[in-house]
Amino acid sequence: MVSVAVLGAAGGIGQPLSLLMKLNANVTKLNLYDIVNVPGVAADISHIATNAEVKSFLGSGELAAAVTGIDLAIIPAGVPRKPGMTRDDLFKINAGIVKTLVEAIAASSPRAFIAIISNPVNSTVPIAAEVLKAKGVFDPRRLFGVTTLDVVRASRFVRDLRPGVDAAALRVPVIGGHSGTTIVPLLSLASTPIDLSEAEVKELTHRIQFGGDEVVKAKDGAGSATLSMAHAGARFADSLIRAINGETVVEPTFIALAADPEGAEEIRALGAGELDFFAVPVELGPEGVKRIAPLGGQPSAFEREAVAVAAKALDTNIATGAAFVTGA
Ligand code: NAI
Repeated sequence: MVSVAVLGAAGGIGQPLSLLMKLNANVTKLNLYDIVNVPGVAADISHIATNAEVKSFLGSGELAAAVTGIDLAIIPAGVPRKPGMTRDDLFKINAGIVKTLVEAIAASSPRAFIAIISNPVNSTVPIAAEVLKAKGVFDPRRLFGVTTLDVVRASRFVRDLRPGVDAAALRVPVIGGHSGTTIVPLLSLASTPIDLSEAEVKELTHRIQFGGDEVVKAKDGAGSATLSMAHAGARFADSLIRAINGETVVEPTFIALAADPEGAEEIRALGAGELDFFAVPVELGPEGVKRIAPLGGQPSAFEREAVAVAAKALDTNIATGAAFVTGA
């Protein structure tokens, strides 16, 4: 039985994500926080006949109460992309939002799991880590950047090429980060072998890396992925909740490699080098990250090259995030 807070609950992602969390039978308390419109969202969702108790928290004066006594905070607060913007363009606004929210969690629920959706994830997660370190409560096992949408897209886009594949069952490990070329799908290590030509691997990899742009373009100024993201966020949150309840679950997510969890060596040798954060398939347990799950094989030469490209960009993204808090 788990208490969850959604921070940014009235937004495009926040609303459907809150709905999906209300439908999760393991959620007993659901705190919905935003700086606008959240009383209506909470009242609406609270009528759904499940046992979770829904409460609304509006504005910064109610932030501390929203994050008190929670096991899991999910953060989709912040501005989304418009056509022509990269995720890094969002940094200026979202960095400050994530910092404020994580400071509040550090003060009121320092042992809560924190799942960050707000972009650019490659930088907002290092921001959260520095905030938690400054407060003396950083536990790298409990901080996660949500990269599940890349994993979800990978499964679905494979099916677009190979209609015989069961998109819901297929698992493609996606490693690296969460923007453009930092996203590295390991198609050669999918849970079911997929016979793809070199050209198809290139095409699919590019589509998974830039899949978000398809949505930004189609929404034409009205935002980025919200519904598929809410699904992905709810799937990741459910994995964390099942882990809290004692199940062993594997999900790719952007975590602190600097903490050297078991399995980090394989990832460093693959090209993550000395990076402090990296997305990897993680075995989750009641305390969060148990270990990095083995990849189960050697990635292809193409994938190894993609990791090298990702690592370069990630290095800058991570440093930018950390410097926002430390001023270094
Ligand atoms: P949105 O603009 O529809 O919603 C954002 C919500 O955050 C709004 O309700 C807003 O009032 C709220 N908010 C703003 N400042 C806040 C603060 N200081 N405290 C609490 N709430 C605050 O945006 P949308 O589409 O829901 O996207 C949210 C974030 O998620 C964006 O940064 C976007 O880039 C990111 N995103 C991440 C993905 C991922 O795969 N990790 C995928 C898609 C989007």
